[in-house]
Amino acid sequence: MKIAVSRERRAGEARVAASPDTVKKLVGLGFDVVIESGAGDGASFTDAAFAEAGAVIAADEAQALDGADIVLKVQRPMTAAEGGPDELAMMKPGTILVGTLAALSNREQAEAWAKAGITAFALELLPRITRAQSMDVLSSQSSLAGYKAVLDAAQEFSRAFPMMMTAAGTIPPARVFVLGAGVAGLQAIATARRLGAIVSAYDVRPAVKEQVESLGGKFVQVDEAATKDAETAGGYAREMGEEYQKRQAGVIHETLKKQDIAICTALIPGRPAPVLITDEMVADMKPGSVIVDMAVEAGGNCTLSRPGEVVEANGVRIVGHLNIPARIAADASSMYAKNLLNFVAPLVDAETKALKIDWEDEIVRGCLVARDGRVVHERLGGAPAAPAEGKAD
Ligand code: NAI
Repeated sequence: MKIAVSRERRAGEARVAASPDTVKKLVGLGFDVVIESGAGDGASFTDAAFAEAGAVIAADEAQALDGADIVLKVQRPMTAAEGGPDELAMMKPGTILVGTLAALSNREQAEAWAKAGITAFALELLPRITRAQSMDVLSSQSSLAGYKAVLDAAQEFSRAFPMMMTAAGTIPPARVFVLGAGVAGLQAIATARRLGAIVSAYDVRPAVKEQVESLGGKFVQVDEAATKDAETAGGYAREMGEEYQKRQAGVIHETLKKQDIAICTALIPGRPAPVLITDEMVADMKPGSVIVDMAVEAGGNCTLSRPGEVVEANGVRIVGHLNIPARIAADASSMYAKNLLNFVAPLVDAETKALKIDWEDEIVRGCLVARDGRVVHERLGGAPAAPAEGKAD
């Protein structure tokens, strides 16, 4: 059975969906692994390292994808309409496509995968259950992004993070405020603390308080009573009411006046990111302060952030880097590739080495987007396909 990995074609994407380590393991599981030449360049994985791990190196993408049973991607395939190569046309009907496909925001492309006979798994839709933790691409990538965002802030900040007592005077520690303390936010707190900053954090989910404190951060409370329903059964945040938002804005405004750095990570699944830092709040921040808006791709937590740009307002630098995991491509690729390995391995029968997918499995159902020519994910309006009798292919 052939697994193919090609070079990512989307702008700014430096990651790759396999590492020499995962290739070795996939080969050990009985797969033939084909990697397009140069696919690992952005992540510092050479063709030679992939070949040594047991992969066959293909000269170009068409050759890599030709006849593949499984295609591993970081981002969804390019289409000719987007000005890229028609990556879908290079896959045979029946190919299993696995990646962060951004399926919910690209309905038309999900239709195209179905029409091309592709079985598509969008790993951003993976259920956040304990059994799926080792496959959780959102967590692995968010965690690295949270780390990198603090370094990006340090890069733009013209002061030091740690307190320094020298003969030439004392430098006070930087004050870092993290808005949204999910996976990325918690890693940002830990990183800022390691750099010596004084860290505070805020989140609508009350469960987060303890986690923030265990990392040495101070939890900024808005209204404890009002947040008791802020968390969905799936562990995500809800959009809060107007009254709460007003109180929240007051607390954030006052807190920001005393900060040097704000790291924004707040997201609500399927909704635009909540606006937490307004123009007026930026105007009241100290000159030289830095805001990193990690939510910029979902509309931003700061009204002044611009996707892909670093802008300045009132002496405050606002960083809107896109695709932060790709800015730390080697480790992000290694972890992502491992997530994919952990997802793909259970789809294969250990003895026969043939595909044996349990279509009723919660994890499979959770991220299966297209199958048998149809869009099947319920969040895309599809009804899950009825399992064929005794089918386990
Ligand atoms: P996310 O990326 O959707 O959101 C980031 C953070 O923003 C969240 O903590 C959210 O509460 C917060 N937020 C939303 N609106 C806000 C507002 N108005 N003000 C302040 N903060 C706001 O979340 P992420 O990082 O993906 O984590 C979501 C949940 O999933 C967490 O509870 C996490 O512990 C859980 N999780 C569970 C896993 C598992 O059991 N397999 C794996 C990973 C995460």
